[in-house]
Amino acid sequence: MNIILLGAPGAGKGTQAERISEKWSIPQISTGNIIRDALKSGSDIGEKTKYYMDNGLLVPDEIVIEIIRVRLAQSDCAGGYILDGFPRTIAQAEALDAMGIEIDHVIDLEVEDEVIIKRLSGRRVCSECGATYHIVNKKPVVEGVCDKCGGTLVQRKDDTVETINERLKVYHAQTEPLIAYYEAKGLIRRIPDKGSVEANVKAVFEALGADV
Ligand code: AP5
Repeated sequence: MNIILLGAPGAGKGTQAERISEKWSIPQISTGNIIRDALKSGSDIGEKTKYYMDNGLLVPDEIVIEIIRVRLAQSDCAGGYILDGFPRTIAQAEALDAMGIEIDHVIDLEVEDEVIIKRLSGRRVCSECGATYHIVNKKPVVEGVCDKCGGTLVQRKDDTVETINERLKVYHAQTEPLIAYYEAKGLIRRIPDKGSVEANVKAVFEALGADV
């Protein structure tokens, strides 16, 4: 099963992708996480993408498309995957089509901008494994420590209010048009926000044809 998760920054793509990945045993492919790892390791891709990431702008299409082309060729993708944060422009969606990738479901997580700002400013992520938490909505068992790997929880650099507003602007201008793109292909499943992680998991699983 090949799934695309669409939605604004902070809509819950990463949170839902983790749950779908556990349920269906397919990998979560987050372009954001891949780029952050490249930045940490000091690689060439990290150098080329740092400015865009730090300022809430999209990384140029050709760089992200190449990242996805390489990642999807890996053996763990043979049984399906969840694309979390890709595509983000019409050009990226067309590149996916040109690779001959068949998409089964496109889940669009619909969340108001005001809710997004609260979610992202309270988000904490594991510096080791990338797992996502929230200071109110999804607390770890021990404050500041990842439940999964014991890593330290940190705030992402692009989760400041100023950068969140820029990311929302970019989302509405460049990524929102993908809803119509996939609607025309009959693939979109719209999931209006239910207000809690668990309620959204239930709605997403139902859209994918399974119970929680
Ligand atoms: P990326 O890392 O993909 O960030 P994003 O899309 O901005 O999305 P986020 O990771 O911020 O949010 P999310 O939707 O995953 O929400 P989460 O589950 O964490 O991209 C970062 C940057 O990389 C981009 O700005 C760009 O520069 C670059 N990039 C990446 N892909 C690219 C591409 N394809 N093309 C070009 N550039 C690209 O949830 C957020 C918080 O809310 C968490 O704290 C969570 O616990 C909480 N929460 C989640 N769901 C709920 C709920 N239902 N109720 C209450 N709280 C909830």
